[in-house]
Amino acid sequence: MDNDLQRLQETALGEIQQASSKIALENIRVKFLGKAGAISRLSENMRNLPKEDRPRIGKLLNEIRNTVTAALDNRLDAIESEGTAQILSDVDETLPGTQFPVGGIHPLTLLQDRAVRILRRLGFALADGPDIETEWHCFDALNTPANHPARNDTDTFYLPDGRLLRTHTSSVQVRTMVAQKPPVRVIGPGAAYRRDEIDATHLNQFNQLEGLYVNSDVSVADLKGTLEYFVRELLGHQVQTRLRPHFFPFTEPSFELDIRSPGIQSGKWMELLGCGMVNPAVFEAINAKRGDNAYDPEAWTGFAFGMGLERLAMSLFGLPDIRLLIENDQRFLAQFAR
Ligand code: DAH
Repeated sequence: MDNDLQRLQETALGEIQQASSKIALENIRVKFLGKAGAISRLSENMRNLPKEDRPRIGKLLNEIRNTVTAALDNRLDAIESEGTAQILSDVDETLPGTQFPVGGIHPLTLLQDRAVRILRRLGFALADGPDIETEWHCFDALNTPANHPARNDTDTFYLPDGRLLRTHTSSVQVRTMVAQKPPVRVIGPGAAYRRDEIDATHLNQFNQLEGLYVNSDVSVADLKGTLEYFVRELLGHQVQTRLRPHFFPFTEPSFELDIRSPGIQSGKWMELLGCGMVNPAVFEAINAKRGDNAYDPEAWTGFAFGMGLERLAMSLFGLPDIRLLIENDQRFLAQFAR
């Protein structure tokens, strides 16, 4: 009997060593340790043995069961790591890797971020306001009379309740001044909306960057110096600027700032932004709303400016069509990914 058991163990261990797959190992496990397996059958056979032999044979059977189980486990580990090693040895690490598409920042966001960073260095803080505005914040407070063309249904998106999608970010100036006393120095980047037909140079939702500085003794010289510095930082020191008289209801005097640079629009003058000295009528409207004289036009002066980002992006990046900026065509956008 003892010899038979010894042989059984050797057979099992031999087969385990030969097994080369998980399935083969599982078959061996069933063959020896399964319910109807050889070792189990021998265990059941114990009752036919003479009483005095039973403890010894029982102990032996247990040992065999443990040894075979351990051998199965070891062989399984070995087969698994051989598999991994095989897979790794098939890898040619000199081949070029798989390219994963890496996201990039949208060109408009790049431009806006740069502009915001420059103005923040000059002490301008970020401000914002809602895209859905009241007529008062968008027009009345900004000295824009009821008959002004910008207030037409045909130019502006109105909601049934009389509010509207802001036609410019200048409403952020109003929100800021109603909420805080001077001095203020803020910029408000954000969306603006106009009822334009979409074509190569127009969108009906676009982006602006608004600026407002109110303090004692702010002058046109401050406006000019600030904007010249801003433009040079943004576009390079070769850029020339000029202020051209213009009209906006909320500034007096008002200007347009033009720029000219060899690399932009073949060196032709182009309009960059609108600006001017805050119209005292705006301060009066703010005071009336606040119910105080915080923006006393005798004590405070200010300048403001507003700039469209899409047109500038088109000139800077040489885009033939403004719609490229909203179509999310990967072939276009990937050129800006860094
Ligand atoms: N709001 C004007 C527009 O959308 C731009 C503008 C002009 C903003 C002059 C200003 C300003 O703050 O002072 O065309």
